[in-house]
Amino acid sequence: MKRKILVTGGLGYIGSHTVVELINNGFEVVIIDDLSNSYESVIDNIEKITGLRPKFYEFDLKNPVKTNQCFKDNKFDGIIHFAAHKSVEESVSMPLKYYRNNVGTMLNVVDSMLTCGLKNIIFSSSCTVYGQPDVLPVSEEAPFKRAESPYGRTKQICEELLRDTASTNDEFYVIALRYFNPVGAHDSALIGELPIGNPNNLAPLITQSAAGIRDRLYVYGNDYNTDDGTAVRDYIHVVDLAKAHVSALNRLINNKQLKKYEYFNVGTGKGHSVLEVIGAFEKANSLKINYEITDRRDGDIEIIYSDTKLSNDLLDWKSEMGIEDMMRSAWEWQKQINK
Ligand code: WQD
Repeated sequence: MKRKILVTGGLGYIGSHTVVELINNGFEVVIIDDLSNSYESVIDNIEKITGLRPKFYEFDLKNPVKTNQCFKDNKFDGIIHFAAHKSVEESVSMPLKYYRNNVGTMLNVVDSMLTCGLKNIIFSSSCTVYGQPDVLPVSEEAPFKRAESPYGRTKQICEELLRDTASTNDEFYVIALRYFNPVGAHDSALIGELPIGNPNNLAPLITQSAAGIRDRLYVYGNDYNTDDGTAVRDYIHVVDLAKAHVSALNRLINNKQLKKYEYFNVGTGKGHSVLEVIGAFEKANSLKINYEITDRRDGDIEIIYSDTKLSNDLLDWKSEMGIEDMMRSAWEWQKQINK
C-alpha cells in the first residue's frame, strides 16, 4: 500500500520538484494549492515527467472548513507544508498579508493534523531565520536573530509553533528544513521557477536578462566585506533540495528521528557571490550578461552559507549539483518558457 503524502503549495517552484521526487520514490501524492503563485498547468508537466497525475485540490488553506474536510477525506500518512507567500520585498510593504497567510495557514494545518490524527509534518523553513549569522558556516545551533523581514519572521513563528505543538502532543513529529537559496530547474525543463509578475530572486532575473526580457541585471551593491564586494549566498539546486524532503520524510515515517522536533540546514556548504553566479551562468551557457552595479538592497545580509554536517549525517543526504549545473538548468528552463 503506497504511503499517501499531502503536499501543500505542491504546484509551486520547490513544491512541484518535490512532488516529482516523491512520486519517483513510490509515494502517492495529493496537492493542495490556491494558485496564488502557481499555475494549474504545472500538474500536466508533473504527469509528463512521472507518468502519474497527483490528486489536486484548489483552495486556500486559510479556510479551516475546507482544510479539515480534505484531511478527513484523505487519511494522509504525512504532510510537506510549502504553502506560503515568499517575497521578502513584498513582506516588508505588506506585513499583515504575510502574517495572515503564512501563520494562518500553518495554524489551520496543525489544527487539522491534530483533529485527524496526522502525526508527521515536514515544514518548509528558511535560512532567513538566522538573520546575519555571527559564525560561518552557519550551523543549526546558531540562534534565531531578528529576521530581516516579516517573511523571515513568519518562518520563525511557524517553527516555534510547530516545536510547541510537538512538545504538548504525544503523536506529533516535525522536521523543519531550513533552505538556503534554491535555484535551477528539473532537467526535463518541464518544471522550474515560474514567478507570477516580476521575480525578486537573482536566478530568474539573470535568465530574464540573458533572454532580453530585461535590458540588464542590477547587482545590489559591491561594497560588502567579501572577495569581490558582492553579497554571498549558498545556492542549492532545487532538485537536490527536493531530494532532501524525501530523505526527511523517510526519517519521520520510519521513526528514525532523535527528537520530536528536528531541524536541518539544507544547502551545499559553499558560498558564491553575485558576480561568481553571473560568471558561472556565462561559462555554463556561453553567454554574456549585461549587468550594472547599483546600491545595496534594503534587508539584504552580507554573507551566509550552511554547515551541512547534520543534514549529511542524519538525513543521509548530500547536495550533488554545482553552481554551473544550476545555471545551465535555469537557462534551459528560461528558453522553454520563452517559447
Ligand atoms: C540573492 C543575492 C541580492 C537580485 C531570499 C529569501 C530566502 C529565499 C531565497 C524563499 C542577494 C542579489 C538579487 C538582483 C542582485 N526565499 N541580487 N540583483 O535575498 O538571498 O533570499 O530568496 O525561499 O528565504 O530571503 O535571495 O535571490 O533575492 O538574492 O544583486 O536583481 O542576489 O542582493 O545578495 P535572498 P535573492
